[in-house]
Parts: sequence; C-alpha cells; structure tokens
Amino acid sequence: MDPETITINDQLVKLPKHVAIIVDGNGRWAKERGLTRMQGHDAGFKNLKKLANHIFDRGIKVASFYVFSTENFKRSAEEVGHLMDIFVILCRRELKTFMKNNIKVVFSGGDAPLPQKVIEARDWIAEQTKNNTGGIINFCLNYGGRAEIVHAVKRIAAEKSADEIANLTEQDFSKYLYQDLPDVDLMIRTSGELRLSNFLLWQNSYAEFYFPKTKFPDFSADDFDQALVEYTLRDRRFGGIKNA
Ligand code: IPE
Ligand code: IPE
Ligand code: MG
Repeated sequence: MDPETITINDQLVKLPKHVAIIVDGNGRWAKERGLTRMQGHDAGFKNLKKLANHIFDRGIKVASFYVFSTENFKRSAEEVGHLMDIFVILCRRELKTFMKNNIKVVFSGGDAPLPQKVIEARDWIAEQTKNNTGGIINFCLNYGGRAEIVHAVKRIAAEKSADEIANLTEQDFSKYLYQDLPDVDLMIRTSGELRLSNFLLWQNSYAEFYFPKTKFPDFSADDFDQALVEYTLRDRRFGGIKNA
C-alpha cells in the first residue's frame, strides 16, 4: 500500500508513520548567545511544543522525542535538576493541549534514578491521556536503547516458557519494548552530530536518517517540512530491489 501523501507548497510529500527526533544542540545554541545551558533547554522545550503541534497537524501519527538519555545523568546536578523540573512542568501544563489535540502521551525509559516527582508527573499524564486516539507522542526520558533491549529480554525470560522463547519472532520481541509502536520511518537529529547516541536501536533498524545542522531551539516547522521533502526523495528498499 502506498504511504499517505500530503501537499506542501505544491509538492507531493510522503508522510512517515513514525518520526523520531533527537533534540540536540540546546547547550551550544545557548553558548553562542552568551546564555546558560539551562536557558538553552528552556528554549529547546519551547520549540518542542511548537514542533510537536506541527508534526501532528501534518497528519503524522507517532512522534518520539529523545529528551533525556540514561547517559545524561553524567551532567552537572544543576543541569540534570533543571531538566527534571522542565519535565514535571511539561506534564502538568501541557495536559490541556494534549487533550484538545487528542494526543496520547507515552514514555520510554526506566524509573531509577529519576526523581519521584518526575515519575509521578510522567505516570499522571500518561494515565490522563491513555484513551486519546489522534496521535501518540513518545517521550524517551531516562532512555537507553541497550537498556530497553535488556529490559525486554528480562521480561520475556520471566513471562514465557522455554518453548515460547524457542519460537519467539521479531514481532513478538517488539511487544516487550517499552512501547509497542511502529518502526521509525524518519529519524532526525539536529545540531549536526552524526550518531545515534543509544536512541531507539531496535526501532531505527530501517529508518531514514536526516541530520540538519540547525540546533534544536531553532529547528522550525519549515525545517521539519524540509525533512519530509528529503524523506520523500529517499528510495526505501528494505533489502529488496530498486523500484524505479
Ligand atoms: C540536548 O541538547 C538536550 C538534552 C540532552 C536534553 P544538549 O544539552 O545535548 O546540547 P549540546 O549538545 O550540549 O549543544
Ligand atoms: C543525546 O544527546 C540525548 C538527547 C538529546 C536527549 P547527547 O547530547 O546526550 O549525546 P552525545 O553525548 O553528544 O552523544
Ligand atoms: Mg548534545
């Protein structure tokens, strides 16, 4: 079946089902302006809200945002604390918007060592929005791709018989990831870094990668549309023969 298409500035553009974004460059964006890293994160999250609205307006059904990796706990207490405060505020303040737009909020990532207030705010908004059907926003918070795979393996080992494990398929395995979402079609990392940094290792298996130089606080709706144009030009073969 042909993927859904839309028109942007008279151009026919393919819509990915699942877009995943590594929101990178907040710190460097701030430094360039003589601001603190904390101010960079404030600007980044302001932009994330705008961009998420735009993505769902375009008709995309699933959007993942990498907002805090398991490795990001290595940063200063001040920076980690500020980001944790941002997550709590985001969950509490944005419920109205998610309800209005019919967006289900889900999270990928472990609990420890997240502060209790973040766990509570996270679980609260997930519960409030669980019946929404217009789209899914997946916040990868305290997320690591390897940790996710190990977590899935442990759950499978605990819940399944030896026989079921012997017959386990890739599809079965996917159901044990933090969230059961479609594979990523388009993975965007802002700020010019050309790496995955442990992001959705399983789900990005056949994703198209797009690496704009723009730092996340400046990554606009138009920049996102440009990524869709580029995505449309890609020839996704999935190991098959070119279809031209
Ligand atoms: C990404 O921006 C935001 C988070 C980790 C939450 P960075 O903080 O990594 O910004 P740079 O890479 O230092 O510029
Ligand atoms: C990846 O960015 C994590 C998030 C954006 C949340 P980092 O800035 O932490 O990644 P590295 O350290 O440059 O690989
Ligand atoms: Mg970074």
